[in-house]
Amino acid sequence: MKSTTYSDKVLDHFRNPRNVGVLEGEDIAVGRVGNPVCGDLMEIYIKVEDNTIKDIKFKTFGCGSAIATASMITELAKGKSVEEAEKITRKDVAEELDGLPPIKMHCSNLAADALRAAIKNYKKKENQPEPAKTEFMKITGVDRFKDGGVYHKVVDINRLKDKRVIILDRGEDSVSRACSLQKISPRVIFITPNQRVAFNRNFEERLRKARVKILFESEVLEIIGTKTVEKIKIHDLNEDEVYELFADAIIL
Ligand code: FES
Repeated sequence: MKSTTYSDKVLDHFRNPRNVGVLEGEDIAVGRVGNPVCGDLMEIYIKVEDNTIKDIKFKTFGCGSAIATASMITELAKGKSVEEAEKITRKDVAEELDGLPPIKMHCSNLAADALRAAIKNYKKKENQPEPAKTEFMKITGVDRFKDGGVYHKVVDINRLKDKRVIILDRGEDSVSRACSLQKISPRVIFITPNQRVAFNRNFEERLRKARVKILFESEVLEIIGTKTVEKIKIHDLNEDEVYELFADAIIL
């Protein structure tokens, strides 16, 4: 396939995505992942009965290829046993779609990783759920950039107009701040070490409505830059991966 062409199947799944939406309830497991290459996000919800994936839905802040691969992976996984679904790879999805342009292969990671994360969380729930973390670990660079983009509290959020801002989950205040900032900033990313924002579904809904991106199960390891904040090093706790995001400011 040429680097820019899409197969008919990709276009079909992009234009008419299957299984879009969310599932709710105590028995639902969710997989949430971010793409370190482009910063896009994917969520996959699964309902498992008798070790079989009975229902599955997805939601993404991703490109057309991410939508098409998520749509296809939900079709592939539905009705399969947990073990079979776990083995679905991004290559399987790309093949079912009759290929993806090489430069878009990274997008197919999102769907495959989100499905695996959902299954991992399902298994975790089946056993004993781990206690939620309540604190971020120590972040390298906080003192170094205290006058260059690191804020403990922003009195006037207009100072952050048009900046790319990372906000750490510190409860309701941080949620309100993120929602206000999103109105004047091109990109606000909310980071929580937990599977739920501040352990509260309403907070999460507020952030989603305000179109703030949320990175679940993630911790900031380090602030990077020369004189001011330029990048943030993030640890994806679910996948145990470390990656960097461009940012101008971070609110602790
Ligand atoms: Fe981000 Fe495709 S460009 S998922």
